[in-house]
Amino acid sequence: MKAVILVGGLGTRLRPLTWNTPKSLVPVLNRPFLEYVLRHLKEQGIDEIVLALSNLAVPIKECFGNGHHLGVKLVYVVEESALGTAGAFKNASELLTDTFFVLNGDVFSLLDFHSMLEFHKRQNSLVTIATIPVDDPTPFGLVETAPDKRITRFLEKPMPIEVTTNFINAGAYILEPSVLDSIPYDTTYSAEKQLFPNLLANNGRLFAFPSTGYWIDIGNPQKYRDLNFDLLSGQGDCDFHGKQEVIIGDGCQIHPQTKLEGPVLVGDNCVIEEGAVISGPVVIGNNCHVGERAFITDSIIWNETTIATGCRFISSIAATGCELQAGSCAEKAILADYVTLIENFRLTSGSVIEPQQILG
Ligand code: GDD
Ligand code: MG
Repeated sequence: MKAVILVGGLGTRLRPLTWNTPKSLVPVLNRPFLEYVLRHLKEQGIDEIVLALSNLAVPIKECFGNGHHLGVKLVYVVEESALGTAGAFKNASELLTDTFFVLNGDVFSLLDFHSMLEFHKRQNSLVTIATIPVDDPTPFGLVETAPDKRITRFLEKPMPIEVTTNFINAGAYILEPSVLDSIPYDTTYSAEKQLFPNLLANNGRLFAFPSTGYWIDIGNPQKYRDLNFDLLSGQGDCDFHGKQEVIIGDGCQIHPQTKLEGPVLVGDNCVIEEGAVISGPVVIGNNCHVGERAFITDSIIWNETTIATGCRFISSIAATGCELQAGSCAEKAILADYVTLIENFRLTSGSVIEPQQILG
């Protein structure tokens, strides 16, 4: 069976991290996010995968190629301009002649697709939507159901006063191919706001498949951080074990007089100098340099970043190629690619810095 993954969104809410890096490639424990989605599909026996792309398509293709290294067969369909979530899989119609899955490309989940497919067939369903309970449904799509799980109403991004259930659209669907006939060609068209409500209005058989378990949409920096640290501490069934572990990549030079308190993950070819303290949760990418007596805690650092002598990097994210010069400090900050903090500069707490800024 085929799955279409929607990876063409702009990643607006995850900016400035997504100016140069598509949301599907942001590193999670030093691997591109989408790799987790592909591995999960593969584990569930779904290995024919269509990636529906629009923005920043080239780096995604370069990263995953034909999918061979992950044991999946990848095909790409690219929209000239973004077609919306339903327009995206309409664009792949020629490949979708049988029942198919559609997944949002920014959701990490452990959904059981086998049981979902069985349920879909048992109900003779036209569209089955995985749902998940969340504390605050307002950033998501509300899915109301009857006791037999038949969907009765959709409400995208409800206001607090409109919340009638805590079950939301979990971003995974099973669709019958006939549904494609209800989507116009070459038109921006939304699955959640147009296609599904229209099918419902026409008495289509739409069912919810309620799920529980670990689920996260990495749509904003807080959620992106949460996913990294949850996986780092052993949640989410990831192959990083043990809550207090310190894992160091290949080719690193770690001075014996450093203090690394897990959970800490350090990528390949990093240098950590004398007296540096890294207090988990911390993820450091490849080719990074941590200078003498630098202090890093509760942070994520992408590749090729330097945190020089005596710096303090606390509860922050630094993207690729950042440079914190000696004695500089960042707290609760987000630094996009290639940001420089000049010597001894103290960034205001909570700052969000666009790419290539030099501050100090
Ligand atoms: N190819 C393509 N083209 N993909 C798109 C497009 C497009 O025009 N627009 C969005 N996508 C992709 C995004 O990259 C993302 O992977 C997915 O579709 C969903 O888009 P988001 O922009 O992340 O939507 P959302 O998070 O606000 O809401 C959606 O997901 C929630 C669950 O995470 C909705 O489906 C909600 O109902 C749902 O609860
Ligand atoms: Mg999303």
